[in-house]
Amino acid sequence: MLVAGNWKMFKGAHEARNFATRVRHLPERTAGVEIVVCPPFVSLQATLEGLGGASLVRVYAQNVHWDLDGAFTGEVSAPMLLELGVTGALVGHSERRQHFGESDETVRMRAEAALEAGLSVIACVGETEAEREAEETESVLARQVGVLPRHDRLVIAYEPVWAIGTGRTATPETAQEAHAFIRSLYDAPVLYGGSVKPENALVLLGQPDVDGALVGGASLDPVSFEAICLAGAEAARA
Ligand code: 13P
Repeated sequence: MLVAGNWKMFKGAHEARNFATRVRHLPERTAGVEIVVCPPFVSLQATLEGLGGASLVRVYAQNVHWDLDGAFTGEVSAPMLLELGVTGALVGHSERRQHFGESDETVRMRAEAALEAGLSVIACVGETEAEREAEETESVLARQVGVLPRHDRLVIAYEPVWAIGTGRTATPETAQEAHAFIRSLYDAPVLYGGSVKPENALVLLGQPDVDGALVGGASLDPVSFEAICLAGAEAARA
């Protein structure tokens, strides 16, 4: 079971450090759950400092470039992240795909380079509302999952785009169906993302093919993030 908080473009260094200080002991109460936070690049260092060396909470970046270094303005490489103490990265988040021209090919390149360098990867996939209505969900997922490198440090996050930041969570049955389909293509843990909240976390995480959550909005408040991690521990025990 893995619960990851994607802070998106929220929390500068000061706020990130305070949050990290609040949650650094959380893993002691959430047996069976790996906890990850994904701050903005500029807050990675402060988050790591707030957690302190001994915390089991892991810090991932929200993106990573495919080259080790070079003339790529605005990008950050895997060795730079590893040097800080960052242990993983998200790739292919739908907001990157929608607003920043991320393609299946660049997602593949980012994932491959990150894994090769030694990072863990959470690769995000998911259909838009129009694709679901056109009954293209499975073909979209097959295309997005198909390009991902096979690796035991890769985890997939199923994030239906229509459920992100909308309060419209996928029903547990819809999530389960998509997760089972993804797992038939790629045998890796599959996280669910899209309006996960303390109120719906337990039922979602209780589905047989839901191996964790990638949480946006509800990960920004330490109280609700903690509640979701505790629900993960309860689901892991069941
Ligand atoms: P919300 O939890 O805010 O819907 O965001 C989901 C998400 O995009 C996590 O990566």
